[in-house]
Amino acid sequence: MRHLLSTEHMTATELTWILNMADEMAEVLERPIPKVPTLRGKTVGLLFFENSTRTRLSFERAAKALSADTMTFGSQGSSMTKGESLRDTALTLEALGADLMVVRHHAVGAAHRISEWVDVPVINAGDGTNQHPTQALLDVLTLRKRFGKLDGLTVAIVGDIRHSRVARSNVFAMTALGADVTLVAPPTLLPPTLDEWPVRVAHHIDDVIESTDVLYLLRIQAERGGDQVVPSLPEYVSRFGLTDERYARMSGDSVVLHPGPMNRGVEIAHGVAEADRSLVLSQVRNGVAVRMAVMMTLAGADRD
Ligand code: CP
Repeated sequence: MRHLLSTEHMTATELTWILNMADEMAEVLERPIPKVPTLRGKTVGLLFFENSTRTRLSFERAAKALSADTMTFGSQGSSMTKGESLRDTALTLEALGADLMVVRHHAVGAAHRISEWVDVPVINAGDGTNQHPTQALLDVLTLRKRFGKLDGLTVAIVGDIRHSRVARSNVFAMTALGADVTLVAPPTLLPPTLDEWPVRVAHHIDDVIESTDVLYLLRIQAERGGDQVVPSLPEYVSRFGLTDERYARMSGDSVVLHPGPMNRGVEIAHGVAEADRSLVLSQVRNGVAVRMAVMMTLAGADRD
């Protein structure tokens, strides 16, 4: 694997290999000194052209736990405000010594384009509505830790699927590992076609609330127009929100996931976000181990 741009064509073997390595990295992170020398002498370029809390900090923490140096680029305050192109920006980071690039961008395909311009591995940290592969990897790691395996699990992904790179990446990663995925959304928040998606579809959260093992909630992505295609937030909550009452009807073994950032009181009730079966913060924690595993796989190829 040269780059990590998408989960769409990843096999169960590839996914499992990264998950197994992430389990080892999780053990490293529990040591008194949570650090290994694998990427000592290497520099990870963090290119964030779009805002982020979890992904940026998680990659930074993961790079440091692998003993790499980091070089962080944010488009605000950079020479892109003077008209510098994406290509020239990426080439500049490479010339400054980045041995690996982590790219978040609002445009679909941005990480892929950069991977064609530079000679170092590129990790897609979210490109528009397209893909967010490390989010899916940390989600399947979280589920594997909880349930032992994904094979046979029922997963309902609820919310703004249309604009969600997280949903796209998860559908392919979860189904490759044997999960049975249902998308739950109003027709206006589903992609124009689902021909290539190995999923079922429902249009009311109550259709899945009592039967699903995993309820994966997504926020409405107002920045991509998601808020323009729902009649009102109260109506959205009435059909798609995980309220306290609905949480009480979920099976005792089921769990709630959310990639963050959460809009409490909309897709998830305030208290449910911190309830016993909410794995939201476990997802965040597992993100560090997964990103260590991915960076080791891509940039640690010449290690002993
Ligand atoms: N889940 C996720 O990508 O969060 P951030 O946008 O905060 O990185």
